[in-house]
This record gives sequence, C-alpha cells and structure tokens, in this order.
Amino acid sequence: MTAAPATPALPTTRPAGCPFDPPGNYAALRETAPTSKVRCPAGMDAWLVTRYADVRAVLADRTMSSRGASSVHMNPNADLDEEVSPGSIIQLDGAAHSRLRKKVIAEFTVRRVEALRWYVQGLVESHLDAMLAKGAPADLVQDFALPIPSLVICELLGVPYADRSRFQQHSATLVSTDATREEGEQAYDALSGYLGDLFTAKQRNPQDDLFSRLISGGASDPLTMEELVVLGLSLLVAGHETTANMIALSTLVLLEHPDQRDIVLAEPERAVEELLRYLSVVQWGVLRYATSDVQVGSRSVRAGEWLVAALNSANRDETVFSGADKLDFDRESPRTHVAFGFGAHQCVGQQLARVELQEALTGLFRRVPDLRVAVAREELRFKHNTLVYGVRELPVAWG
Ligand code: HEM
Repeated sequence: MTAAPATPALPTTRPAGCPFDPPGNYAALRETAPTSKVRCPAGMDAWLVTRYADVRAVLADRTMSSRGASSVHMNPNADLDEEVSPGSIIQLDGAAHSRLRKKVIAEFTVRRVEALRWYVQGLVESHLDAMLAKGAPADLVQDFALPIPSLVICELLGVPYADRSRFQQHSATLVSTDATREEGEQAYDALSGYLGDLFTAKQRNPQDDLFSRLISGGASDPLTMEELVVLGLSLLVAGHETTANMIALSTLVLLEHPDQRDIVLAEPERAVEELLRYLSVVQWGVLRYATSDVQVGSRSVRAGEWLVAALNSANRDETVFSGADKLDFDRESPRTHVAFGFGAHQCVGQQLARVELQEALTGLFRRVPDLRVAVAREELRFKHNTLVYGVRELPVAWG
C-alpha cells in the first residue's frame, strides 16, 4: 500500500530576483489547484484559496468565522482554540463584530480623514526638513516611513507620541512570526497594561480624541475596560505597522521604476491603489474558519475546516488584472484590489492609509527628486517573518 502524499507546506519563500513578488508559485496554483490543502506553520491544515473570485466569495461569506484572523495560521505558538477576546474587532463575528465596528467606523470616513490631510502634509514636510538637514545617507524607515503613520495614529487615538518606545517595539513583536509564545505574551501584556493606564487617565480627564470618545460614547451600551484595551490595541498596531511598511516598500519600488514616478506626482490616488495591489503587504493572507459546509470554486469545504484567503495571490490574478505581475499605473479600475481585504472586516483605516501614502510619496518625490537607494539591493533586508511585509531599513541618499 502506498502512503498518501503529505500535505504540502503553505508556500513561504519568495522567488529569487523580485522581492515584490508573492511567495510560492501562486500562478500555477490558480491555474491547476486554485483551492488546495496546505499545512500551515501553526500546525493545522487549511484550504489555500488563490483565485480572486474565490477569495472575495470566502471573505463575503457570513458563515465564515474570523476567529483566527487575521493570520493566526502563521504563528507556530498559536492556540487555535483560544477564546476570542471581546474587544478583538478583527476576530469577532456577527452582531458582536458589528457592535464594535459601528463604534469606530465614523472616525475613519472619507470626510473625517480628508480633514486630517493638512496634518499629514505638515508631518511629511517637517520630517523631510529634518532628514535633509541631517544629510545623506538617511534610513527612510526610521526617519520617515515609521514616524509619520505613528504620529498620525497617536494624534487620532489620543496616544502620547512621546510613549512610542513603549508601543512600537511591542507591536513589532506582535506582528512577528518568529517571536516565541513568551515574547508574544509579554508584548501583549505590556501594551495592554500601557493602554489600560491610558484609558483610566482618559476616564478621569477626557480629551478630544477617539479613545476618549470610545469611553464617553454609547452611554446605553458602554464598552468594558477589557473591550477598550483590546480594541485600542488593535487600532494602534494596525494603524501604524501596515502603513509604515507600505510607505517604505512603495518608495523602494518607485526608486526601481523611475519611469513611473511622474505618474505618482500627477495622479497619486491612482498610483497608490496600484502600489497597494502590487505589494499586498498583508503577506500571509487572512484566515477564516468554516462554520458550515460550503462550496469554494470546485471544492467542498466542510464545517470546522480553516481557509487562508491569499490576498496577494488574488491581487495577481491575471483574469482580473492583465499583466498582473507588472506595476502599471494605467490600469482600469485600480480600486478592485483586495489589499484591504473584502466583506464585513474590510480595513477600517483604509481611507487614512490612502491619504498617508498619497501625501508621503508625493511629498518625498517632489522635495527629493534625486533620491536613490544608498546600498546594493542584495544588502537590503526584507521582512519575511512578519505578518506585514516590508523592508527593515532603507538607506537612501540624494544630491
Ligand atoms: C496600507 C495600510 C493597510 C493595509 C494594507 C491594511 C490591511 C488590512 C486588511 C487586509 C484587513 C482585513 C483583515 C481581515 O479580513 O481579517 C484590515 C482590517 C483592519 N484594519 Fe487595516 N490595513 C491598513 C491600514 C490600516 C490603518 C491605518 C488602520 C487604522 C486604525 C487600520 C485598521 C484596521 C482595523 C481596525 C481592521 C479590522 C476591521 C474589522 O475587523 O472590522 N488598518 N486591514
């Protein structure tokens, strides 16, 4: 009797040559095995869903639970049966999820975020002033890409930026797939302890910020301290990690595609959508759990099975984006990508991320048109072990 073939591992290695292409041979999978079983680093098997239409269908399906979202499958120390914390917006389902989402969504509408654009522009200018005054070489990550979204989210939430050393390192640990269980728990405890103190202070002395409004709003249905802390933590971590990585990685891509840079200055909205699609920084997709039997493409998925909706594969699906592996700012309907997810959990902060990216990239290339990478590509270190892809440092020079 021949043994059944072992379940292949979830692809995690990016092809040599292009650090912007997703890991694994997704093109072949989309063609021949668009929804196939893989073994995840967390130890469980999951259906890897690679086609754009199937990814959207899975994410729109209300019978799919988000209890493992967004990427518990990547954590070898994950406890897959762990109860979802009541404030964890990204993991809650149904009415519990809608209740939390309603409490924050009004703070991130296009109108509210547009009102912040001038603030983002000011930050971009002041950080460029400081970077240029300090002189080349500079690290674009530490001097520009990380502080801008951190300052914006701090301002919006009402978190003192002076405390950044207390949350930036912990949030980096929380998105790392290499962190041990102990390190992850320590980071979580430290960050929730910090936020607990902050919420207690705001209860006594509310300010004009989102955290204070979360405390005072909804008098008939107040959030508990646990809910406040976990929701606050999700907003703080999601609010700067993703955008910071997108700013640095987009800069690198544009430095490697100088012919495309003028389009960024002329049409930043369009360019940013294409960068979001092309880079798909939420690199391990988003995890779902089937609560009932369901058909995904030609596959029958059973209740109790896990699914990985591969956003980066969906965003390279040739049937939707022709020439998908190329950065192309002339694409029709550039907003059809799923870089912000899809369905009930689609990114709350997407408008904010768009404004930050548009302002950061146009400000940078307008002020420093001769910006260049100061080291050879082989010397750059990419984030292969974090939930959000990016570049660790980006040494740049000019002049
Ligand atoms: C380029 C930047 C960003 C990217 C690529 C991104 C990506 C995503 C994705 C893919 C999801 C869906 C997760 C899922 O379905 O399981 C998501 C959800 C979320 N994002 Fe973002 N995000 C970005 C920026 C932001 C910012 C600036 C904030 C600000 C607070 C934010 C807050 C959130 C929250 C709270 C959720 C959970 C929404 C829910 O479950 O209802 N994100 N994001």
